[in-house]
Formats: sequence, C-alpha cells, structure tokens
Amino acid sequence: PTIFAITPTYYRPVQKAELTRLSHVVMLVPNVHWIIVEDADHTSSLVTNLLQRAGLVERSTQLSAKTPTQFKLQGKDPNWSKPRGVEQRNAALRWIRENTSKDDRGVVYFMDDDNAYSVELFEEMNKIQAERVGVWPVGLVGGLMVEKPILNNENIVTGFNAAWRPERPFPLDMAGFAISLDLLHKRPEAVFSFEVERGYQESEILRHVTVLKELQPLANLCKEVLVWHTRTEKPKLTEEEKLRKAGKSSFDGIEV
Ligand code: UGA
Ligand code: MN
Repeated sequence: PTIFAITPTYYRPVQKAELTRLSHVVMLVPNVHWIIVEDADHTSSLVTNLLQRAGLVERSTQLSAKTPTQFKLQGKDPNWSKPRGVEQRNAALRWIRENTSKDDRGVVYFMDDDNAYSVELFEEMNKIQAERVGVWPVGLVGGLMVEKPILNNENIVTGFNAAWRPERPFPLDMAGFAISLDLLHKRPEAVFSFEVERGYQESEILRHVTVLKELQPLANLCKEVLVWHTRTEKPKLTEEEKLRKAGKSSFDGIEV
C-alpha cells in the first residue's frame, strides 16, 4: 500500500528542526507519500527546500490551509484550549479523496510534526487490511507512560487503558491509529471538526469509519511502543530579541 502521512505544520523557530527529523523517517520508508499542510495562506520555501534536499519531491505534496482566526491559538492561550491541525488535516483528506480512487491500496496516517516515530511503525501500517483501522500503543501521552488498546484472549480490541477522559468513544491519540484508504472513500463524511470537545478529534473521525471490535491491533498485539507523543520545548530567544531591537540578527540570510 501507499501510506499517506498527513503532517499539519506551522511556522515557529523549531519548525525546520521538527520537519528535518520527520523527513529522515520518511526517507527510510519508500512507500510513504508525505502530505505536508502548512497552517498559512501560502506554502513556504522552507518546506519546499526541505523536501528537495531530502529527495522527496516525487513522493510528497505541499499544501497550505490556514486555521480560521477564531480557532487559532493566541499568544497566551494554553495549547489545549483550541483544536490544532483540523483545517490542515481536512485539506489533506480532500486532496487524498480527489487524487486516489476507491480501489487503490492505501493507508492514511496523521503524523504530527513534533512526535517521534520509529521506521518500524510504518512496517506495521503495511499490515492494515482493507476496510480496517490499525491501532497500536503510543508512548508518553494522556498522563501515562503508554496509552494502549486492550485486547481480549481472542485478540479483539475491547477498550483502551486511557486515564484521561476514558469515556471518549475512542480514547486514543492521533498518533495511535491509521485508516485503510478505502474507508475514506466509502465514508466521505469522515472529517475533523472544530465543533467537538477537547480530546474528541480522534473519536470524531473514527466514529464514521469503524467500531471498537473491528480495530486491527498491531505492534506485536499492542505490546510494543513505536511512536512517542513528544513535545518540543519552546527555545529561549532572549538574546535574539535584544539583537532584533538593535536592528540586528544572528541569522541574516540563513534559514534556521
Ligand atoms: C494533541 C494530539 O496529539 C494532536 O494530534 C491533536 O491535534 C491535538 O492534541 C488536539 O487536540 O488538537 P498536541 O501535541 O497538544 O496534540 O498538539 P500539537 O502537536 O501542538 O499540534 C498538532 C499538529 O497541528 C502539529 O502537527 C502542529 O504542527 C499542527 N499545528 C499546531 C498547526 O498546524 N497550527 C497550529 O497553530 C498549531
Ligand atoms: Mn504534539
């Protein structure tokens, strides 16, 4: 299958570092088609250059889709106060629905730009069957070392060990599942929404395409962690700010 990896991204000082890290995983997995969707009015040369230097032009798509202002995080908003990545993931889903057909073999994965992904995770995604959603554990999320699906003795998923909002229909992180492409063609209404409560984006898309007992457990029957919900610290740029006020810069003409 082709694995369509959807990455919403936005400009901030660590953006190039994050995307460089991700690009090296994509380079190692030949059947990934990487869809980068920038939260901006236009695509950027930073992303174009990065794809070129990684040799990924042929198997990537660069889009832009700006988050509507009323839903965009402002300066001191806590990061969980508004949903992130909604507009961007929906733009990518639209692109996928328009540029693939229902008979293509494919898998769709939501690959946020700040997490840490093992190459082995993509080998697991290759095992996802037609009309199914693959699931696996995610490290360092939901206040736990690992959030994971729970299986019964017939290896059917019966629930999750989530501690945070366990009442959600699908209490798992965006990094913990991937969807067989045919399901997205069969269910055109499966999209993300700004209207749902915090923590319900995953449930919002999954409720259209699957039910709990149909989930396909991967990563050694959900006993292995191959992706981590890491979050990058915001760098302190106090000296840069002083330079800026003096009309100077440490990075004139340098893309950082
Ligand atoms: C958690 C989940 O891991 C996300 O998949 C989910 O979208 C988010 O909660 C949510 O509930 O909305 P978290 O680590 O808190 O994620 O979110 P970020 O990593 O900050 O953002 C998720 C993605 O959206 C990233 O790829 C990020 O680059 C992108 N993003 C973030 C934008 O495109 N624009 C923004 O203004 C902020
Ligand atoms: Mn994140």
